[in-house]
Amino acid sequence: MATIRLPGLIDPHVHLREPGATHKEDYDSGTAAALAGGFTCVLDMPNNTPPITTAETLAAKQAAARLKARCDYGIHLGAGTDNIESAAWLAPQVTGLKMYLDQTFGPLRLDDLDSLIQHMDRWPDNRPVLCHAEGRTVAACIMAGHLTGKHVHICHVSRKDEIDLIRRAKDKGIQVTCEVTPHHFFLSEEDAPKIGPGRSEVRPRLAKGTDRSALRASLEVIDCFATDHAPHTLAEKDSPKPPPGFPGLETALPLYLELVREGLITIEGLIDRAVNNPRRIFDLPVQPETWIEVDEDADWIVRGAETFTRCKWTPFEGWTLRGRVLRVVLRGTEVYRNGEVLAAPGFGRDVRM
Ligand code: NCD
Ligand code: ZN
Repeated sequence: MATIRLPGLIDPHVHLREPGATHKEDYDSGTAAALAGGFTCVLDMPNNTPPITTAETLAAKQAAARLKARCDYGIHLGAGTDNIESAAWLAPQVTGLKMYLDQTFGPLRLDDLDSLIQHMDRWPDNRPVLCHAEGRTVAACIMAGHLTGKHVHICHVSRKDEIDLIRRAKDKGIQVTCEVTPHHFFLSEEDAPKIGPGRSEVRPRLAKGTDRSALRASLEVIDCFATDHAPHTLAEKDSPKPPPGFPGLETALPLYLELVREGLITIEGLIDRAVNNPRRIFDLPVQPETWIEVDEDADWIVRGAETFTRCKWTPFEGWTLRGRVLRVVLRGTEVYRNGEVLAAPGFGRDVRM
């Protein structure tokens, strides 16, 4: 057994479903899953019911998180057509402004170019704008960010044309960063039949093998790893109208370690993408006395039924993964050990408080 010590991982993109869909996940179960996966800080997305776009909805989410979160967290604000004037006032309380420009789960959506530009114009220059953008909308976001002087962060890049465009923008000195999920590194549309028709629904969709290869060949362009942990129940996933989304917090680290074993990045490169870059991009405080201990040689078989996420399934069901989190220490307190989450709900802190 080779135990390695890594800093607590930071996931800049999770959906903990509170408020509005706590049958899928809540701050309690979602942050337990985070700790089990080696994450000590997660940034939560605003596509809730109701969407987090106002001072009132933000306050309700903050209250739920304060009571229930077991690890540290930040909250991203949503960009809607209802908060073009007011979003910037809330910037000090959140970790970024999230814009949904393409179809995905939930009603939070910006459809017109004018709203996109108006949001970017008003948002503070020193805070990132996160974009759910696919294909041509990636170009629109990069251009809008460039013209308005904003830092645009492209979420869950899944395709060759997108990562190639981001590389070209970076080469021109444009301020843009991006993230890639473990499922887009390890799955493609060819895996969909095995996962199942409803269960394999995710946005962005599982792409072609050539896209997956392009992402793996572009690690120098990829700033962050992000799970896009998006739990839905099995009943929902297996229904005639399956919502898109995969849980990911509890399977991410062994997959990131696999990229190291494959020689695509170094362990330092992993730490940059899973800790240092998210901290820098989202301006997160250092978590003192915080680390994880990982048995990097331990093989284990993924079983959804054994996970902490409330949805209790995973697209990696039955996979043998290598690398297991043994222990997590957060701010000097042991919060996870050998399959048991020790931090109580309420232990987690809001990174902006
Ligand atoms: C996410 C969800 O379920 O909230 N679904 C997904 O397929 N990724 C929304 C999103 O991040 O697009
Ligand atoms: Zn997401």
